[in-house]
Amino acid sequence: MRPRKIKEKIYWMGSVHWERRLFDSLIPLPDGTSYNAYLIEGSDKTVLIDTVDPSQTHELMEQLSGVSKLDYIVSLHSEQDHSGGIPHVLSKYPQAKVICTPKAKGMLTDLLPIPEDSVITVKDGESVSLGDKTLKFIHTPWVHWPETMTAYLEEEKILFSCDFFGSHIATTELYAHHEGRVYEAAKRYYAEIMMPFRNVIKKNLEKLAPYDIAIIAPSHGPLYPHPPFIMDAYGKWIEDPPKNLVVLPYVSMHNSTKLMVDHLVLALVDRGVRVELFDLTVTDIGKLAMALVDAATIVIGTPTVLAGPHPKALYAAFLANALRPKARFLSIIGSYGWGGRTVEILAGMVPNLKVEVIEPILVKGAPRQATFEALEDLAETIAAKHKEEGLQ
Ligand code: FEO
Repeated sequence: MRPRKIKEKIYWMGSVHWERRLFDSLIPLPDGTSYNAYLIEGSDKTVLIDTVDPSQTHELMEQLSGVSKLDYIVSLHSEQDHSGGIPHVLSKYPQAKVICTPKAKGMLTDLLPIPEDSVITVKDGESVSLGDKTLKFIHTPWVHWPETMTAYLEEEKILFSCDFFGSHIATTELYAHHEGRVYEAAKRYYAEIMMPFRNVIKKNLEKLAPYDIAIIAPSHGPLYPHPPFIMDAYGKWIEDPPKNLVVLPYVSMHNSTKLMVDHLVLALVDRGVRVELFDLTVTDIGKLAMALVDAATIVIGTPTVLAGPHPKALYAAFLANALRPKARFLSIIGSYGWGGRTVEILAGMVPNLKVEVIEPILVKGAPRQATFEALEDLAETIAAKHKEEGLQ
């Protein structure tokens, strides 16, 4: 891509990475992603906000080929998909200073070959003049690393937010005009990396509330010309009570657990409870993470393998524990052949979840009439608890 003009002397740069399908060797990217950098030419100083993933540095360097002078490189976040290009940019502009938070200074120099004397730090609320333009730095930690900040361009009311409000979408559209598509991608992104920090993110949203923001320019996905769209969405994902929703990740080996899962789904639906079902042998974990944003109850379905839960159920439990969703209830269902510690092991894996555990149902062998009756009771309990809490 070539640089794209946002406003006079303000440009999008970076790379649209259409082919990328996995982030951090973990997170699926069904729609690719972009690494957005931004060039601001002030009357005195020129600044580049963030860079790109190391694999795409060549694109950024080509975009910078017509830029003769660079005074500052702002690093809003030290993760390498934004900071990885800094050494290349510094080698072209050795006099440029890297601006970051005090916490980021150590992280950048630990992660990348960046000389310490090239880095200057900014306090929360500090401004840097570019001549006719002013960049104000607002520390917004834990979106999603401890060192993160945002930058507010006062004259144009543009907030450069890096990962905060981002979405993994490869698109030629500079702005988020197709809000439905961007909403899904931004929610997936929030679920995968921001949800564990939602209490801090709430404080960051409150901190940004007084600013008059005309455009949010994140470092992944399109820009937001209507910032309340994404800021209100974040507010809902963080604040709302969970929904009248059961998320049911499961795995089954010889169909016994699957029969139990299917029965529980029908019993919940009969009682007006929505269910999202995830077969863990084929699940996109991003979709599972998204469902966890809203779930009031998590039910894990697993057979017993080698005296414990199936490894894919362990993975789902690990993920749910790490993402710290706002679920209030948890249960476990499944089948075993001759014994094991499935419930004990799974329940011990989710200490971060502030949930009430509803009596699990583990059956020896194939489910029978008594099992289905117990599943009806479980559905009844879940529905009643959701009702008591007024969940919709
Ligand atoms: Fe887009 Fe946390 O890096």
